[in-house]
Amino acid sequence: MDSPVFTPILIMNSILFAITVILIIAERLLVFYGECSITINKEKILAVEGGDTLLNYFAANKIFIPSACGGKATCGYCKIEVLSGGGHILPTEEIFIGRKERQSGIRLACQVKVRNDIEVLISEDLLNAREYKATIYAMEDLTHDIKRVAIKLDEPSRIEFKPGQYVQFKVPGTDEFRAYSIASAPSSANLIELLVRFVPGGLCSGYIHEVLDTNDKINITGPFGDFYLREDSDRGIICIAGGCGMAPIRSILLHLKEKGMPRRLTYFFGARKKADLFYTEELFALSRQFPNFRYVPALSEPDPQDSWTGETGLITHAVEKFIEPGAYAEAYLCGPPPMIDAAVKVLGNKGIAEIFIYYDKF
Ligand SMILES: Cc1cc2nc3c(=O)[nH]c(=O)nc-3n(C[C@H](O)[C@H](O)[C@H](O)COP(=O)(O)OP(=O)(O)OC[C@H]3O[C@@H](n4cnc5c(N)ncnc54)[C@H](O)[C@@H]3O)c2cc1C
Ligand code: FES
Repeated sequence: MDSPVFTPILIMNSILFAITVILIIAERLLVFYGECSITINKEKILAVEGGDTLLNYFAANKIFIPSACGGKATCGYCKIEVLSGGGHILPTEEIFIGRKERQSGIRLACQVKVRNDIEVLISEDLLNAREYKATIYAMEDLTHDIKRVAIKLDEPSRIEFKPGQYVQFKVPGTDEFRAYSIASAPSSANLIELLVRFVPGGLCSGYIHEVLDTNDKINITGPFGDFYLREDSDRGIICIAGGCGMAPIRSILLHLKEKGMPRRLTYFFGARKKADLFYTEELFALSRQFPNFRYVPALSEPDPQDSWTGETGLITHAVEKFIEPGAYAEAYLCGPPPMIDAAVKVLGNKGIAEIFIYYDKF
């Protein structure tokens, strides 16, 4: 039964919710902003009927800004610079935009409503992102919950990306997008691969695991992301991944393999049990082919029947053990947020400055 204090709070919340809904509907029906212009990089001008968000106007004009949460202000990926006309930053944006970014006008494109003329700057990299019509070429189970999805690009038929970047997959029949890192090498420009882990109750991963099939037609956009191999560096490379964090690291490895593995590289991969490991043979074969490359998988909860003789414990323990203090290296990390946070600390203790640590958390 409700407590006497709880009931008034519930009623208050319901009234506030109802007022918010009424205000949103009233704004939609009654407020007309007329024609507004969005000036991009001081040259391209979009003429729009005001009232919608920058993100939606961009999408309608084939300008693809990363939007992993589909405009719900929960991913923080749709950052752009607003020079004028964007109004005040909203509470929904605050957690994603630091003080320095605020001073330079960074905003979330999904939260900025166009109510008047507005000027924005969008990086050339983002302007190069495209929409691709594509066909599912092959699908394969890699573990009990991870699938490899090979996608053949139809129109345009080639994508240029840096190893480590991601694309967005549009869930058919919806306006929802989800981000998936490209797991293949950039040299394979017509056929890209994704590794998708099943999230129970998940819209997109559920669709990919349970509905998607070979020869299905899909749409993707990209490439996106600042997490990619820095090719102008001569530092050694430390890669740390867990689960589907394998995807961007695999793209980096395949790319470096094609180049003859020019830099020393150690790859730490964390999993719970042997059943969660994949590409193991391929990775050990790579370490036999290139003395510069070392693969270190670690299991945190091996089963007795796994007969596991490799590293055990959290992957950060293996990093502690194998990386020399003061190593002249940069690091690429991809996996669940707690793993990344712990790995950044361990690498910091080894003397690797944060500017040389790149990561994607998911
Ligand atoms: C840059 C980037 C790259 C990514 N690359 C990959 C990749 O290569 N492979 C891959 O499988 N995923 C990747 N992801 C995650 C992916 O974009 C989706 O978030 C994921 O597939 C879940 O989407 P969904 O629609 O199935 O679940 P949703 O419908 O969005 O979520 C359903 C429920 O599951 C929860 N949830 C969402 N994600 C997770 C999660 N990871 N673990 C546990 N619970 C979760 C949500 O909070 C929600 O309650 C990446 C994300 C980003 C931002
Ligand atoms: S699209 Fe995710 S925060 Fe804007």
